[in-house]
Amino acid sequence: MSDTPTTVPIERVPQHVAMIMDGNGRWAIQRGLPRLAGHKAGTENLRRVIRSTVEFGVKYLTIYAFSTENWGRPPEEVKGLMLILQDVIDRELSELNKEGVQLRHIGRLEGLDPRIQKKVLKAIELTKNNDRLILNVAFNYGGRDEIVCAIQKIIKDGIPAEDITDALVSKYMFTANVPDPDLIIRTSGELRVSNFLIWQAAYSEWYITPTFWPDFDKEEYRHALESFAHRDRRYGKVASSELQETNA
Ligand code: FPP
Repeated sequence: MSDTPTTVPIERVPQHVAMIMDGNGRWAIQRGLPRLAGHKAGTENLRRVIRSTVEFGVKYLTIYAFSTENWGRPPEEVKGLMLILQDVIDRELSELNKEGVQLRHIGRLEGLDPRIQKKVLKAIELTKNNDRLILNVAFNYGGRDEIVCAIQKIIKDGIPAEDITDALVSKYMFTANVPDPDLIIRTSGELRVSNFLIWQAAYSEWYITPTFWPDFDKEEYRHALESFAHRDRRYGKVASSELQETNA
């Protein structure tokens, strides 16, 4: 049996991991720093996490970087997060491209400053043929907003009611053609979904840790994958071991 560096057998490594990178603000406040220092430390950690994701053999990573609700934060924090996104693209794009990472965006791009839209589109275009890791950046993203957007498009396309299926709705999501997340990791201990991938998370497994995002390291990531590898995913059915016993 082939093992990845996770010690998790390759067939038990989740195909798609999604992350709610929470706790940057508290991480900063604990150190007597401004909240934006937490987001900067969180950005440094994101770079490490992306590298580990490639090493672990996970194929899709979705990160929650800015929600449709985050506009309600103090203006200097919103401005800081917008600058971080641009800075990440300016400084990391070439390296990410070399590492075979394909960048995608989920959320309402049109709600962002035109300069940011341009940078995001340029990053998507440059990396579109990469296939080592698909990195979905949820920015100006909300799960309910995504569903509203999908319903509007379905109606505009004149799809008859009887043709609307699970699979069709999935195709109208920002994540069209991306498998649903197998594992969602949330840092900082909050037990909430926070409007993240609410359609796609129907059967995702969760790993919630009290660690603040800037401190979520490779060891803990490995631990999350190991925890996932031991889960019995039943999708509302019964365990396969139980079925074997019944049929015996
Ligand atoms: C939640 O922590 C975190 C965010 C709203 C932003 C996450 C952003 C990064 C990790 C930077 C990387 C960004 C990009 C654009 C690639 P919080 O501020 O809610 O923390 P708190 O709950 O402790 O206040």
